[in-house]
Amino acid sequence: MRSHNFAVTFRLRDFATGDFETLFEIDQACYEPAIAYSRGELRRYLRSPGADCIVAESAGAVIGFCLTARQRDRGHVITIDVLEPCRRQGAGSALLAETERHLAAAGVRRVSLETATNNAPAIAFWERHGYRILGVRKGYYPGGRDAYAMAKLLS
Ligand SMILES: CC(C)(COP(=O)(O)OP(=O)(O)OC[C@H]1O[C@@H](n2cnc3c(N)ncnc32)[C@H](O)[C@@H]1OP(=O)(O)O)[C@@H](O)C(=O)NCCC(=O)NCCS
Repeated sequence: MRSHNFAVTFRLRDFATGDFETLFEIDQACYEPAIAYSRGELRRYLRSPGADCIVAESAGAVIGFCLTARQRDRGHVITIDVLEPCRRQGAGSALLAETERHLAAAGVRRVSLETATNNAPAIAFWERHGYRILGVRKGYYPGGRDAYAMAKLLS
């Protein structure tokens, strides 16, 4: 168990097939309908070559996850989701740190992602972890919302 001296004590583990529906529900809860993944999209990302998914579990229940893809030395964060009542207690940071360890071990040097330009908590989270805004992708999300393209070099 990984304790952060906060209300939520959690542990990290790899995704298992039986987590699928819970991850779908968490993603639906974390994003507005235009941005949340459909079951088909989520399944496709989980099955894509180089996909890696780590989940955070508290008291036997999944409270968050981080899903990435990689190609050669490039990694991409597909999504990182933590249930709202469990936020600001280190789960997102722990998921990201473990994800970056996995990516680095697989030879990834650079990690990129997109996040909505109005998602202030996420932007603060990424900047806190060394990701920098590279530019804006206009109309990136279904529904037309813009995204920041962000990236970080792994040391
Ligand atoms: C982004 C997200 C994963 C962060 O998860 P989390 O478990 O709350 O993250 P942590 O507790 O590890 O936060 C680490 C740091 O990030 C920053 N941060 C996180 N949430 C923040 C917020 N709401 N406002 C300002 N800074 C924030 C802070 O610096 C925080 O450190 P602190 O709590 O000591 O101040 C979570 O907010 C989430 O699931 N959001 C909905 C889905 C989403 O937008 N995902 C990212 C888009 S790609």
